[in-house]
Amino acid sequence: MAEQPATPTDLAQWQALTQLRNQLAATSMRDLFAQDSERASRYLIEAAGLALDFSRNRLTDEILDALMALSDACGLDQRRTALFAGEIVNPTENRPALHTALRQPADQDVRVDGKNIIPEIHQTLERMDRLVSAVHSGSHSGYTGKAFTDLVSIGIGGSFLGPKLVVEALKPYWQGNIRCHFVANIDGTNITETLSELDPETTVFLVQSKSFRTQETLENSQVARQWFVDNGATDAAVSAHFLAVTANVAEATRFGINRDNIFPMWDWVGGRYSLWSAIGLPIALTLGMDHFRALLNGAHAMDCHFRDQPGDRNLPIVMAMLSVWYNNFWGAESHAVLPYDEYLKHLPEHLQQLDMESNGKRVTQNGRAVDYQTGPVLWGGVGANGQHAYHQLIHQGTRLIPADFIIPLLSHNPVAHHHATLFANCLSQARAMMAGKTRAEAEQELIEDGVDAATAENLAPHKAIPGNQPSNILMMDKLTPETLGALIALYEHRTFVQSVIWNLDCFDQWGVELGKQIGNEILPRLLNDGTSRQRR
Ligand code: F6P
Repeated sequence: MAEQPATPTDLAQWQALTQLRNQLAATSMRDLFAQDSERASRYLIEAAGLALDFSRNRLTDEILDALMALSDACGLDQRRTALFAGEIVNPTENRPALHTALRQPADQDVRVDGKNIIPEIHQTLERMDRLVSAVHSGSHSGYTGKAFTDLVSIGIGGSFLGPKLVVEALKPYWQGNIRCHFVANIDGTNITETLSELDPETTVFLVQSKSFRTQETLENSQVARQWFVDNGATDAAVSAHFLAVTANVAEATRFGINRDNIFPMWDWVGGRYSLWSAIGLPIALTLGMDHFRALLNGAHAMDCHFRDQPGDRNLPIVMAMLSVWYNNFWGAESHAVLPYDEYLKHLPEHLQQLDMESNGKRVTQNGRAVDYQTGPVLWGGVGANGQHAYHQLIHQGTRLIPADFIIPLLSHNPVAHHHATLFANCLSQARAMMAGKTRAEAEQELIEDGVDAATAENLAPHKAIPGNQPSNILMMDKLTPETLGALIALYEHRTFVQSVIWNLDCFDQWGVELGKQIGNEILPRLLNDGTSRQRR
């Protein structure tokens, strides 16, 4: 692992960026565009089916170089090599993090404890393939011989958010007529409402838990099992209808899942990076295995780009360093992800876990308290809906909120002028955030609209928009399994690069444990008090 100074804020490269920030403070992005007619074409990177326009940032070539110099000084090269090579990049759990290996072709060699893990990954993909074919053809059917029509995936966090995002984002690619339902929450409404629509004879359950110890998942799975036998199935039928994906085979077997129905997870895959493993079975069962493999290929293309390209032409590195720039040098506290695509409505939720569970930390990998801000709050939602809700705060609020716009050039559902209008909205929001409107422009506009001079003067401050709000625009020809795979992998690597600068272990999540511990103490008391009894 690369030696870093006690704190990155001591680096000369950090201090250089502080100076550059001060120098740029009086220059707006409007000025930068006015000074450089090539800006839009120069600040453009294409990779793995995605194109990033990062021209609307508080950025000059000198700053981009300085950001790259900071990443070099923080040992990004070595840390990236260590990530791909399966070295221990999660020191607090003493593990590698090999989600990239899950997307590697079969002829590759990636070693954990001296053993090549690629064959096992591909054997698991083949097992998934056999299951998907058997379910789709009806040869693996329900206990009365009827073909499965519904899949209930029970899992939470990384065992839920990624698969749900992909299943719903790729609806145009669904194959096999399996409806996929997700149950995550330990709120009886979630499982009750889900089961109320289903027929036990044609429903297959998938218990998704790396640890097989997660309370929400285990309790929901018990309820599902009970519902299954209470509605006509025998205990013996459980073996055909209940599958699991877990690294804890012993617990899954104890739960009653047939060993042959247990798909492996490995401790070198983090929960929030696991949709590429058998945790992706809801994806494969809903979309078909060819589309699941295409998703992996898209992610692999992004891995190769991230691994091989120089920093200033590297999509995840540029996006990560821009985020560091705003977070640590301009005081941004949040980051908005604004997909202009209805199919990507669950992307912000997945990225929240990915980014905030990874980089929501306050000590370095060595356990030393940080003296700088780490991960910002990530939030967002689909455009154009957000324009009629929270965009007001981005345009005229007091906070700096960098944003990522994400939009495909072609729609799966070309209706009337909808897509052109959606696109125009996306571009106009990015432009408005960048350019804003000066008070003088607002006043002039009012006068041109026939408003009297006194009213125009009074209204102008309310209509003025400061602008200078940074944004990226990420584009793709179409949302496909390949481009979605690349997009998710892009954010994974962006998260990793940020963690390198902040010197964090982005693959652990100790902070979530205390709440679980306290919950385990409170629950027996509530049960004994009868507080949780139903009151009618
Ligand atoms: O509590 C947090 C967490 O551990 C996440 O990191 C993980 O994705 C989720 O719980 C679910 O864990 P599991 O797959 O072990 O049930």
